[in-house]
Parts: sequence; C-alpha cells; structure tokens
Amino acid sequence: MKSHDQLLNLLKRHPDQYVSGAMMSQELNVSRTAVWKQIRKLETAGYEIEASTKLGYRLLYSPDEINSERLAESHSTARFGQSIHYFEQVKSTQDSARALAESGAPEGTLVLAEEQTGGRGRMGRGWVSPQGKGIWMSMVMRPHVPIHCAPQLTLLTAVALCRSLRRLTELPIGIKWPNDLLIRGKKISGILLESAAEDERLKYIVAGVGISVNLSEGDYPEELLAKATSLRIEAGQPFSRSAIVAEFMQEWETLYDLFLQEGFNAIAALWESLSVSIGQKVRLVTPQGELEGTPVGLDESGAIRVERADGSLVTIFSAEMGEPLNRS
Ligand code: BTN
Repeated sequence: MKSHDQLLNLLKRHPDQYVSGAMMSQELNVSRTAVWKQIRKLETAGYEIEASTKLGYRLLYSPDEINSERLAESHSTARFGQSIHYFEQVKSTQDSARALAESGAPEGTLVLAEEQTGGRGRMGRGWVSPQGKGIWMSMVMRPHVPIHCAPQLTLLTAVALCRSLRRLTELPIGIKWPNDLLIRGKKISGILLESAAEDERLKYIVAGVGISVNLSEGDYPEELLAKATSLRIEAGQPFSRSAIVAEFMQEWETLYDLFLQEGFNAIAALWESLSVSIGQKVRLVTPQGELEGTPVGLDESGAIRVERADGSLVTIFSAEMGEPLNRS
C-alpha cells in the first residue's frame, strides 16, 4: 500500500479527531517531513485536511468518487450519459467532446473530468475547475434543428440543471438570463454551448456544464468570492457528484425530447418560472451598446424581452446582464 493511502486510512480511522504528526510518522515509519509531503499530496487530490501545530492533522472532507461505469448504469436514459469518457485531468472537456463529436461520437456522449487546467467560460473568461470538487462535463448533442435554435438549447440546459439541482439539494436556485444558475445572487453553475454547422444546419453541439459542487471558500480566487459559491458552501454539507450527474441526465433528456417533439414554448414557460431575472431592473451590455430595463419574458426564439423606463419593449439576443439595480 502506498504511504499516502496508509496515511489516509489512519486519518479515516479517527473521524473528527486530530492525529499527531509524531503518531503518523511512527505508524507509517517515515519522517515528519515525509508525512507533511503526503498530506500535501492528499490535498492536491481534493482532500481537505486541517493542520494544527499543536494537535496534528484532522480530515475534514474526502472528495466523492465518480465511477463512470456505475454512473452510466445509474440513470435510465436512452442516450444522454450512456457513453461516458472519464478523465483525471484535461485542458477543457469542451475540447475533448469536440474531438469525439468530430470523429462521429453519438448524441449523448459525455465527457467528465476530475480537473480542467484550462476550463473555459462565456465571453472568453476562464472557469475555475479544481480537482475532485465539481462537475466539469461536456456532452455531444446532434439535434435536427436549424442553427438559430441553438440558444434555445442553452436555455433548455439551464432549466434541466436547475430543476434537478433544486430537487436534490432543496436550495433556492434560480436562473439568471441566459443560463447562469444562482443561489442568493451568487453563481454556482455556468453553461457554455459551442456548435459546429454545415449549410445552415447544426452538425453538432457541445454543451459544457460546470457545477461548483463541493468547493470550499479557499478554492476560489479572492476576487470571485463575492460573486461565486458552491452547493456545499450554501447547504453546509457536501453532495455526491454522481447523484447530481444521474439526476441531471434524466431531466435533460426528458426536456430535450419534449423540445424536439413540441418545440420551444413549453421550455420557455419553465425557464420563466425559474428565472430570477424577470421583473428585476438591470443594466445590459449588448454588442450595440448599454441599456437599462426590466426583463419581462422570453420571445419564441429564446431572446429576452426588456421593458424600458418609457414603456417600450426591446428584444435582446446577446448581452452581459448586470446585478439588479433596485436591490437595497
Ligand atoms: C460560464 O461562463 O458561465 C460558462 C462556464 C462553463 C464551464 C464548463 S466546465 C465544463 C466545460 N468545459 C469548459 O472548459 N467549460 C465548460
């Protein structure tokens, strides 16, 4: 057995208690420096260990493991998440899923990674994706719809994720237009859809979803703490990532099939019922300039309709939406 496994076993045998460095080095027959090095290794693997100079080390949190074979069997979807490509570390699951899509991977092919070294967000931003703490995944979709329907699939993905996370965590999760999931104003999840088209038809979509599940405050850079949070921080307890993926796959496929059969209307109504943007006065930065107004609903394409102070309505297809302006 490797010494970090032995050390982990030792910590696990003393739940909620400190184990002194002296006792560890004695039991494992290694130096105190070697113990410290193994502790660092466990921390990089997602374990949280409290260190006290007087008392020793205490295991606070073990990352939950994803077993991709068991995961594929845990939901009864026809396509979504039936073929899972699981990686310890990738640059971005978007790139891996795109390569699979290009080589003909079927719809529902899912890429999951424990860690992303170059996770991508919307608008060219990065995405914090530490090891073992979140769900960093991308799925291949091959809908037979015109290219202008792609934004509707982004909204659909947000609805499916919001409904499944609410069911599992009972947290007050809402959707900020177009597809950020927030709890009490802070972001817990982001969605990034990238598509490839041929002759005005979608060849495939790679739907990337990042869910901050078990991150603690120390996992975020200082400047993000005011804006970002995790399910664990908000609920005060960790959650099983596999359970979340399974629930999400089920809900996502159900809504996707509804969308393919009946169109976007039913999805739009669900989105509106979960939205935290509707009725809140905001500033929007669009490619055409800035404006202030109150979102009132979606139009049939998935764009948001915004009412301005003079009562006029504008339809916004793409924008960065700011914080609510009328919050005290
Ligand atoms: C956003 O900016 O809100 C979108 C964030 C999307 C992040 C996910 S994590 C899995 C997938 N791989 C990436 O590089 N990005 C998406």
